[in-house]
Order: sequence, then structure tokens, then C-alpha cells
Amino acid sequence: MKQVVLAAYAKGNPRPTDFRVEQAPIPAAGDREILLRTLWLAVDPLFRFAMDEVRLSGALHLQLGDVMAGATVSEVVASNHPDYKPGDVVEGRTGWREYAVVAPDQADYRGPPRKLDTSLAPVSTALGALGMPGQTAYGGIETLRIKPGETVAISAAAGAVGSIAGQIAKILGAKVVGIAGGPGKVKALLDLGFDGAADYKAADFAAQLKAAAPNGIDCYFDNTGGDVTLEVFKHLNRGSRMAMCGYIAYYGMGMEGPGPDHMPALYRTIMGTGLEIRGFAGVFAGPEALENIARWISEGKITYPEAVVEGIEAAPEAFASVFSGNSFVGKLLVRIADIA
Ligand SMILES: NC(=O)c1ccc[n+]([C@@H]2O[C@H](COP(=O)([O-])OP(=O)(O)OC[C@H]3O[C@@H](n4cnc5c(N)ncnc54)[C@H](OP(=O)(O)O)[C@@H]3O)[C@@H](O)[C@H]2O)c1
Repeated sequence: MKQVVLAAYAKGNPRPTDFRVEQAPIPAAGDREILLRTLWLAVDPLFRFAMDEVRLSGALHLQLGDVMAGATVSEVVASNHPDYKPGDVVEGRTGWREYAVVAPDQADYRGPPRKLDTSLAPVSTALGALGMPGQTAYGGIETLRIKPGETVAISAAAGAVGSIAGQIAKILGAKVVGIAGGPGKVKALLDLGFDGAADYKAADFAAQLKAAAPNGIDCYFDNTGGDVTLEVFKHLNRGSRMAMCGYIAYYGMGMEGPGPDHMPALYRTIMGTGLEIRGFAGVFAGPEALENIARWISEGKITYPEAVVEGIEAAPEAFASVFSGNSFVGKLLVRIADIA
């Protein structure tokens, strides 16, 4: 089988050359273990945290030569565990490899591999709208305490989390403004039902944001930090709330950026507007999050864009493109194999 390992610790944004594709023997399932064949691999920016030479944050830390960490949907091909049988489809974090052995009894805090109802939706959604990104969107939106009619801005809005968060905010009666890079992503946001969208890579981004949020911004679902967030700060209304979901603009910077120091702008904004900032990470939305998203999908209230690249060799470039710029909309996935 093929697997992708860490060849170099990331310096700044990850590059395809930080990874190496290797051949490895297909492992065998031991007592109370299951053998999984990977069907889908998720490209999730949060795994950048595992790639620093010295761990700065995040639960996971990779050594050189380790299989790259990542969420997967897999088919059980052999089972020595009573809770799983061949043919079951499961979601877990088995990493960038074509086959993996898992011991469900020794699961981490995320629990044993999650068995999927294959009749509910395409199984790839377990890595997007009906998985961690969907739960993240739901939980982050909950922290914002949105009132109908309020304006909600979302950064990295065309990504896996942002695209779902924006649609949930619409269901709650908000006016939703998405921020993303490039005219293609702006169009995709409007097609998803966002009320307005601004291209942060355009020279007139500031004017676009002002036009899209003429009454200011009451809630901000932040996935990026950086220049996008500094621009949003200028539009925050009194009593505004911010969900700090991610800060991808800073993932390659360690604890201190190269400057200038924007802390004064942050302090001025917090005191001047009464801004409440709530950070969150990990599992923080209950099972009702996925139940409600599944219902909204079945009612036609939420659509879940997915972008697919083919084959495990494509994973390093796809992962790097999340940080360096790409045209993918929605959840970015690597198709490894089809269900047997
Ligand atoms: N708190 C949690 O528990 C949790 C859970 C999941 C994800 N997250 C975080 O939430 C964020 C979104 O995750 P996701 O899964 O939706 O990611 P995603 O689908 O991979 O989308 C990420 C997008 O961020 C944009 N981006 C990259 N660098 C940027 C920069 N410097 N400035 C502005 N935008 C930039 C890119 O889109 P453009 O083309 O628009 O630039 C990229 O496609 C990430 O920061 C992720 O780490 C947090």
C-alpha cells in the first residue's frame, strides 16, 4: 500500500516537499482490531499544528517519518472486534495511508471509529458537513448568540467550516456576509445564499466589505485572523461577538509574528465596541449538531459543496494549497478508493 509521511517539519506554510510518498506492507488486524481500507481522506488545515518541529499547540505532534495525520472514511475489510464487520463504513483519524489497523478499545478522546449510516448521505459528508467541520460550524455559530436581522461576517467563508456556518446563520435569520479569496469563491458564496461577499485578495476589499455590510457587523465567525480580521474590526458594532474558530493566517508563525504589532488595534476594538471573543477547539457541539445539519440537508436548507482530488499522491499538494491559495469550494477531499 501507499502512505504519506512527514519528510520535513513545516517552516511557515506547509509545502508539498514536506511530505514523502512511501510503499508499506498492508498491516494485519490482531486480536480485537479491525483492518480498514481508506476511501476518503480529508484535507484539514488544523493538522498543520502537528508539523512544527517543536510543538506549539494542539494535541498531536508528528516526528519525521510518521504517517501524516488526517481524518478518513474507510471500509472495514477484516474484523476481529465484535462491534465491526466487513463492509461497515467508518469515520476516524487513520492518517494519510491506504490501509490502517485500528484497536477500537484503545480509542483516544474522539472515541472508537464512528460507524456511518450509508443511506443517510454520501459517506464523504462524514468528513465535512456531517462530520467535524459541520460540528465546528454549528458549535461556533451557537457561541455567537445570533439574533434575527443581525449581520454576521465569516472569514474563509468558502471553506468547509465557513460554507456551513454561513448557511446555519441564514437559517437563524441573520444577514450573512462571506469573505474569501478570488471572484470564483465570491460567486460560490452568493450561489450558496449568502447575502453578500467580499474578495479579500482584491485591491478594493475594504470597499467591498463596507458595501456588503452597510449596517456594520454584529457577529464575526473568524477562521483566519490576519489582514481579513483587521479589516472586519473596523466594522464591528457595539455589543458584537466573535467566534475564534481558526487563525490560518498565523499557523506558520509560531508565537510571535514578524510585526507590526496589531495588539493596540485589538485592544482598541475590544474596549470601544465591547466585543466578546470566544475561542473554541475540539469537540464542543453535541450530537444534535449533526442531527440538525442532516435534517437541514434533507429539507434543502443546507447544501454541502465538496471539492475532490484523486489519489493519495495528490494529498500533499492539496494540503499545501489550502495555505497558499486555491480555487476549491467547500470541503476538500482526496478520493482514495471506492466502496468494494
Ligand atoms: N476550532 C476548531 O475546533 C476548528 C475545527 C476545524 C477547523 N478549524 C479552523 O477553521 C478554519 C477553517 O477550517 P476549514 O476546515 O473550513 O478549512 P478549509 O476548508 O481548508 O478552508 C481554509 C481556507 O482558508 C483560506 N485562507 C488560507 N490562508 C488564508 C489567509 N492567510 N487569510 C485568509 N484566508 C486564508 C483559504 O481560502 P481562500 O481561498 O478564501 O483564501 C482556504 O481555502 C481553519 O483555520 C481551521 O484550522 C478550527
